[in-house]
Amino acid sequence: MANIEIEQANELSDGDIADLCDAAETAILDGGGFGWLKPPPRAVLERYWRGVLLVPERLLMVGRLDGRIAGQAQLVLPPKNNEAQAKIATITGNFVAPWARGMGMARGLTAACERSARRHRMRFINLDLRETQEAAIQLYESMGYERWGTNPHYAVVNGKTIAGYYYTKALARSARKATAKRSAASRKEEES
Ligand SMILES: CC(C)(COP(=O)(O)OP(=O)(O)OC[C@H]1O[C@@H](n2cnc3c(N)ncnc32)[C@H](O)[C@@H]1OP(=O)(O)O)[C@@H](O)C(=O)NCCC(=O)NCCS
Repeated sequence: MANIEIEQANELSDGDIADLCDAAETAILDGGGFGWLKPPPRAVLERYWRGVLLVPERLLMVGRLDGRIAGQAQLVLPPKNNEAQAKIATITGNFVAPWARGMGMARGLTAACERSARRHRMRFINLDLRETQEAAIQLYESMGYERWGTNPHYAVVNGKTIAGYYYTKALARSARKATAKRSAASRKEEES
């Protein structure tokens, strides 16, 4: 049986970087590569992963399938100057290589981001994605992320304008209850 492990990566070996580049390239070619529409040159991808490790506010979670990295997600903490948003983190770039999908890796990566956000005393996680990213939409909605808005001009892919959805999740149970109450109230208001 396949063995999935999720961890926060504070350093990456050359082999890990190569695995991340392979996973990213296959995800990009499959149409879901954290913003890239076609794989950049390998050296650019390698520099990208090494750069992620250097940014203090960017926490890199990686998923391993039988020891090899096959997916990642990043938790971005607010920068120190942003006191107004000091309790709000963002998840970005969640992807899993096509050959490692359907085994719970993305769910594990998202849960790891949430655990880390709680450890950093964050109260909310925000994220956004393209309306076409159906698997991710299912994933986040099944994990309690609430869609609060749509940007009709979120991305342009092959000349076509694509809408984007914005999600938020309250990490504390009490805050989640308050959000659910607010949503129910605004639904009622819309219906009346
Ligand atoms: C979205 C993505 C990360 C899911 O990765 P994954 O490891 O296969 O997902 P998991 O196995 O953890 O599945 C978790 C949940 O996601 C949803 N999901 C996963 N694949 C799905 C699919 N093909 N169709 C519908 N829902 C799907 C389900 O709700 C699933 O829960 P379940 O297994 O209990 O039904 C992966 O498909 C991917 O990399 N897509 C392209 C990039 C992308 O869209 N990234 C997110 C936005 S940045």
